[in-house]
Amino acid sequence: MELQLEAVTKNYKSKQVLKRISLTMGAGVYGLLGPNGAGKTTLIRILADVLRPTNGRVLYDGKDIHTVGDEYRAKIGYLPQDVSFYGDFTGRDYLEYSAALKGMEKAHAKKRIEELARSVGLWDDLKRKCAAYSGGMQRRLGIAQALLDDPEILILDEPTSGLDPYERIKFRNIISAYAKDRLVLLSTHIVSDVEHIAAQIMMMEYGDIQHIHTGGEYVQMMEGRVWLAEMPAEQLMDYQNRAVISNVRAKDGRMEVRIISDAQPAPDVVQAVPTLEDAYLYLFNYLPGKAGR
Ligand SMILES: Nc1ncnc2c1ncn2[C@@H]1O[C@H](COP(=O)(O)OP(=O)(O)OP(=O)(O)O)[C@@H](O)[C@H]1O
Ligand SMILES: [Mg+2]
Repeated sequence: MELQLEAVTKNYKSKQVLKRISLTMGAGVYGLLGPNGAGKTTLIRILADVLRPTNGRVLYDGKDIHTVGDEYRAKIGYLPQDVSFYGDFTGRDYLEYSAALKGMEKAHAKKRIEELARSVGLWDDLKRKCAAYSGGMQRRLGIAQALLDDPEILILDEPTSGLDPYERIKFRNIISAYAKDRLVLLSTHIVSDVEHIAAQIMMMEYGDIQHIHTGGEYVQMMEGRVWLAEMPAEQLMDYQNRAVISNVRAKDGRMEVRIISDAQPAPDVVQAVPTLEDAYLYLFNYLPGKAGR
């Protein structure tokens, strides 16, 4: 199975929000990271076939998804970034209704709903109205909906927003197990959501996918660029004006500061073990004073 973007462009009026994106994805987990407004949701909506590109095509096994049509949509599970729940639907009603829309056979749907409600931790809440669920519970209901029909392609737009750490870990495990021979694409702002489960991590900014690497490759790229320094609080201001500070922790009346810098920023700093989050800050160039940040 292969999903391919061929010079996909999206314009809103005169504004270009996707810039000729070309990309080929096979089975596995793909993580999509990038700042607000990068174009992640736009790209995801095009892949989910709810939005048409202005130019370019999306190919599923070599065929344009618009030609494949319903048959393509039947292969995908999609969680939009914003789902609103309203009315009197209980969690179970919502999942049964979604299963019916997907054309699932009733007994099979019932079994899947039970399995998924248990795995996303909503089994005890299925009888409650989903409009009254907490934000994290609604997100988990949406994840269950996307997985109902065992889609070959699973597309999730910020699936973990609002999930507590335990549910976030459970989610990662569900996705890892699920992705064996399927394609999972998920966008997130939480770097750790994809750090350990994504085979490929895409970093997107200004409507363009600027980097695609494994988590290990990003970390390797940061070797020798992450530093730890201890300093009095007054000195921190000076660093903030000329380097990327990835973390600050108070320690025995002084500050322990994590600094991202190509060159050793001061003689008394030590090298730190880099993380994917460091790579994110480095590649998106979160330098002090950068416009719009
Ligand atoms: N319907 C629309 N009409 C006009 N502009 C739009 C529309 N939808 C999105 N945009 C613009 O396209 C750009 C990309 O938006 P998009 O929602 O894809 O970003 P994102 O990476 O998903 O951001 P976030 O992390 O905040 O979810 C933004 O500048 C946004 O304002
Ligand atoms: Mg978005």
